[in-house]
Amino acid sequence: MDETASDKVDFGFREVARDDKQGLVRGVFDAVADKYDVMNDLMSGGLHRVWKARMIDALHIRPRTHLQLIDVAGGTGDIALRALARAAKLGSTLDAHIIDANAEMMRAGRARPDIKKAAQKAGRFHFTTGIAEALPLPDASADLLTIAFGIRNVTDRAAALAQAHRVLRPGGRFVCLEFSHMPSALLQKAYDAYSFTLIPPMGGLVAGERAAYQYLVESIRRFPTAEVFLEELRAAGFARAEAQTLSGGIAALHMGWRL
Ligand SMILES: C[S@@+](CC[C@H](N)C(=O)[O-])C[C@H]1O[C@@H](n2cnc3c(N)ncnc32)[C@H](O)[C@@H]1O
Repeated sequence: MDETASDKVDFGFREVARDDKQGLVRGVFDAVADKYDVMNDLMSGGLHRVWKARMIDALHIRPRTHLQLIDVAGGTGDIALRALARAAKLGSTLDAHIIDANAEMMRAGRARPDIKKAAQKAGRFHFTTGIAEALPLPDASADLLTIAFGIRNVTDRAAALAQAHRVLRPGGRFVCLEFSHMPSALLQKAYDAYSFTLIPPMGGLVAGERAAYQYLVESIRRFPTAEVFLEELRAAGFARAEAQTLSGGIAALHMGWRL
């Protein structure tokens, strides 16, 4: 479905009015905020940590610098935390601007002891409520922009990519981690069987939110292939757009530069 031209947009496998999607997505993350981090470990068997480490590699953080990072759909601050840890290893520091539509997710993030500890060491966390389609930050103000498992939830992807391009400085790096698609139909079938059969019940059991996790697995299927998404990056003005598949295509990094 062409999300930019229609009054209807996907919400998992359902079609909903464009104006309703943000509220529905907010409901999902309100419901799971306190169990979000533990569910990530359970659902992915810890794999999300490996994917996030690859994401941080892809940022090419330089040693002994001070950087401005914007983490869009930053939720509980997991990506900002990892970027800060990497910066510290390289003798660098970061201001991490975590922008999320959902105050509940950020409340859970602020309460994380590891976030509190990291902030004392190598930088600062700034949690701000806002949406990817209208980032509350000035033009050309960031060196790095990340978005992990967030882009498939936004209502207007083209607007979100245009905003990412706007807030990055020339030379700035864009890295998006998102679930993707496997090249082998057989593997995809096996993965679908796992995700549709086990993840919603697991979400019901651990977070008391089966419906939220049903949406999450459906939204993964609705997200385009890396090739299609890279075209959207190029259309937004990103240069040298490229993808790196992770775990056989379960997830992918989608990267580009603002020149
Ligand atoms: C799956 S979580 C990812 C959180 C974090 N990036 C991570 O990887 O752990 C998706 C996040 O996207 C946020 N979100 C959904 N739609 C958004 C939008 N339009 N703008 C900004 N954040 C949004 C949700 O509130 C939620 O915190």
